[in-house]
Amino acid sequence: MKAVRIHAYNETPTVEDAPNPEVADDEVLVRVQATALNPLDALVVSGIAANFFSITLPITVSTDFAGIVERVGSAVTQWKPGDAVIAWADAGTSGGLAEFAVVPASACVALPSSLSAAEGAAIPTAGSTAWHALFSVAKLQAGETVLIHGGAGGVGSFAVQFAHKAGARVIATASGDGLELVRRLGADEVIDYKAQNFATFVSDVDVVLDLVGGETQGRSYEVLRKGGRLVSTAAGTPLDEAAAKAYGVSASMFYAKPFADRLNEVVAAIHEQGIEVVIDRNVPIEEFDEAWSRLTSGRARGKIVITLS
Ligand SMILES: NC(=O)c1ccc[n+]([C@@H]2O[C@H](COP(=O)([O-])OP(=O)(O)OC[C@H]3O[C@@H](n4cnc5c(N)ncnc54)[C@H](OP(=O)(O)O)[C@@H]3O)[C@@H](O)[C@H]2O)c1
Repeated sequence: MKAVRIHAYNETPTVEDAPNPEVADDEVLVRVQATALNPLDALVVSGIAANFFSITLPITVSTDFAGIVERVGSAVTQWKPGDAVIAWADAGTSGGLAEFAVVPASACVALPSSLSAAEGAAIPTAGSTAWHALFSVAKLQAGETVLIHGGAGGVGSFAVQFAHKAGARVIATASGDGLELVRRLGADEVIDYKAQNFATFVSDVDVVLDLVGGETQGRSYEVLRKGGRLVSTAAGTPLDEAAAKAYGVSASMFYAKPFADRLNEVVAAIHEQGIEVVIDRNVPIEEFDEAWSRLTSGRARGKIVITLS
């Protein structure tokens, strides 16, 4: 079967022939229709993710995919061949950018009829991160104001819509055509981060969702009200506990984990609330190189998807 794999860290992933995966008793074999990329995939390829996940090479790229169940292990009762599923694999296991992929049966959720396979594949990491960072960690409430850094990206495009639909006032940072995108997705106020320093005119927000890190996070503590909450997904930027204390705010990191119950909640919310799954581009596997360079550019508007069949 075709799969996009690396055999050593820092190799450019390439489309190659790979053996079909074996199915363990508690796993399902999925005929993959669509796969989405995340910045985590670049960390797997660079080897940085090997500090946090147990990775065996060669590894197939991507944790997020959707397709049709082809076969189930002997202990699997909740899925049968022909079911349409969204799967969220652990970054340490071989991934979903292949014609066939195996995942634990417990790592799949049903693909709602309102979503295409490409939209379903785009949800696991980005949608769950946006949802749980906003509502499980920051505990964003209707009527509160949230500042979302990186509103036009994969996580941000979900976060802007989730926060807007929850009745929060949304301020989002973006640039270029990302400004129009975040406005369309429901941002009440849009800041061009390349032209304006948000910290000079944003103040007293209840929540900051930091999807950028670095000095953007550094300037975010001061724009929170006393008692406000900063949640960051930017693993490369340690939280500034001293700044949090000085400004009387809380600061937390969010790390996505592939739990199906979490994914189920997010997929149901997307289905019921009519959330748009924003797709930056959807390319066939033969054009993987283009998708990969778009991911590593850090400029995506929504999600980058690769179609397999
Ligand atoms: N901890 C976790 O579990 C977890 C889970 C998911 C994601 N993440 C992390 O969260 C971050 C966002 O993930 P993602 O999937 O949304 O990435 P992404 O899709 O690659 O995000 C790209 C977007 O970021 C915007 N951006 C870049 N620099 C910016 C800045 N200084 N201010 C505002 N926007 C900026 C870009 O807009 P421009 O083109 O206009 O610059 C682009 O639209 C990444 O660092 C990722 O590694 C962590």
